[in-house]
Amino acid sequence: MSGWDTLRQECLDCRRCGLADTRTQVVFGVGDPQAEVLFIGEAPGAREDEQGEPFVGRAGKLLDDMLAMIGLSREHIYITNSVKCRPPENRDPLPEEKAACAPWLQQQLAQMQPKIMVCLGRISANELIHEDFKISQEHGQFFHKDGVEMMALYHPAALLRSPGKKPETFEDLKALRAKILELCTHTPLAF
Ligand code: URA
Repeated sequence: MSGWDTLRQECLDCRRCGLADTRTQVVFGVGDPQAEVLFIGEAPGAREDEQGEPFVGRAGKLLDDMLAMIGLSREHIYITNSVKCRPPENRDPLPEEKAACAPWLQQQLAQMQPKIMVCLGRISANELIHEDFKISQEHGQFFHKDGVEMMALYHPAALLRSPGKKPETFEDLKALRAKILELCTHTPLAF
């Protein structure tokens, strides 16, 4: 088994926090583990918990549309969450759940070594970019950290609730596309 497959299998068996008792399954991630661009959401919801894949509900459909707007598709990137199991009733993950889960994402990052990381929403930006990240002020800006270009977009679920934010997000997506064209060597764009 490859290092990635071993990591995946270990993660699928994880019982490091209480979410192991309420989840249907661990949602490890989807896409190309050798991708240069990694998208990171918050935590799986009900549909993701059922299907074992991140962003398959309504927010996921919008994420696919956002990717398509800049010529990207799921198969050429990797998508995961900072917490791999669904919190019951979609509550926010507890600090101890986030802490128990963080090493899985750190190991995914260590193996993937992405060039660009895109945080979906404030929660993953707080965790990965800086701890007092203000999504309304800092979305779309690039931060260079640990050799990786990082940015945050509004979470697709927030865009479903506040469609007025979509034009700003389109600008952010165009900036992401420009960064991909600048830095990436094997991330196919449809146009
Ligand atoms: N919201 C997230 O943050 N992640 C998912 O996988 C689905 C919805």
